[in-house]
Parts: sequence; structure tokens; C-alpha cells
Amino acid sequence: MSDLKVIIAPSILAADFNNLQEEIKSIEPFADWIQIDVMDGHFVDNLSFGAPVVDDIDTSLKIDVHLMVENPANRVEEFLKAGAKHITFHAEAVKKSDQRKALIEAIKSGGATAGIAINPETELSEVDDVIDQVDLLLVMSVHPGFGGQAFIDDVLDKVRQARAAHPDLMIQMDGGVDDKTAPKCIEAGANNLVSGSFIFGANNRESAIASLRGSE
Ligand code: DX5
Repeated sequence: MSDLKVIIAPSILAADFNNLQEEIKSIEPFADWIQIDVMDGHFVDNLSFGAPVVDDIDTSLKIDVHLMVENPANRVEEFLKAGAKHITFHAEAVKKSDQRKALIEAIKSGGATAGIAINPETELSEVDDVIDQVDLLLVMSVHPGFGGQAFIDDVLDKVRQARAAHPDLMIQMDGGVDDKTAPKCIEAGANNLVSGSFIFGANNRESAIASLRGSE
């Protein structure tokens, strides 16, 4: 894989929402990004949080908003205003190439980096039209909607394919990432790992995050 540093992005979906600021502070010294899983109850069968929650977050970490929503173009401005520094939308939610390209441009012109996500059943070729325009490709290792699911090993070939074709692209994986699956993700070529249950369920969050980074 390319010698890009492995970025760790804890997902607050697994955090204690009654103490969200403290939860974020508990991982802030050890993580690189913080991922906010935004779910609308339509694109995925779950509801999570909106821009006001992001607006209230006080952190030095890069705020990564993962839009698991229909019509993500309608959401970008509010999350940019709320402080998002990276926004990923799903290829399955925006199928037309011109709309994808316009959305990526809107995210970038708002001062954030842009990513596109593909679900386990979506082929890499599905995003050929924008893979050279995005800053990040998110290869989902679970079906989106809920934390704590089992890692789907079959997606690793897609990661290998993406890394071989795009040596310098940031490739993120999300879903079931823990100390057992992280080495497989890194070996396949991922260099940005989202992890929720494993990190926020750990007694020692510092060592949990360190165990995901692998040998650097
Ligand atoms: C799925 C979510 C989860 C979450 C992390 O829609 O995107 O992948 O971020 O989940 P776990 O708890 O498996 O790390």
C-alpha cells in the first residue's frame, strides 16, 4: 500500500450521547478525525443526528461528516456552517455523474474535503466518474445504518483494487473495524479507519486506538 499515514476516525455513533463532549475529549489526544454518522431514516433505516449536534462539538480533531442520507446536496451547506471539514456522501444516493461532480465541488468550495462512499454490494467501477475528483473513497465494510455490525471481509478485494489503481488516494473503511480487522484493512490498502464500538467500548481508549494504527 502507499506509505500514507493511517488516520483513525472514531465514530461518535457508539459514544455516550449524554456526555458527548467528554466522550470526544477522551479520544481527542489519540485520534486524528472524528466521524459523525448522519442518518435520515430514509437512505438507511435509522435516524441519528443533524447539523446542530456538529455545531455544538468543540474539538481540535477534523470533523468528518458521513452523510447516509437521500439528497445529500440539500445537507452540505448546513454541515459546512456547523464546522464539517470533510463530507462524504453515498454513490447510491447520487447516481447522476453531473450531480456528483457538482456536489463534490460544492463541498470543496465550502472549504472541506470531499469523499464518496460505496456500500458492500456496490462495485468500485460505480464511482469511476468521480474517483479522480474526490479526496477520499469510503469503502463500507458493513451495510450502513447501525454500529456494532460484523466486518464483511469480501470488501477487502475492492480496497486492494482501489489502492492498486489510485496509489495516493485516501481510502477509508467503516464498519466492524477493530484490532482484529484493522490489520486486514491496512494490508489491503486502507489508510483511514473509522471505528465506533471498538473504541468507545474499550476500557483504555488510547490503547484501543493505538492497536488500530498497526506498525507505522
Ligand atoms: C454504519 C456506521 C458504522 C459506524 C461505526 O452505518 O457508519 O459503521 O460508523 O460502526 P462500528 O461500531 O462497527 O465501528
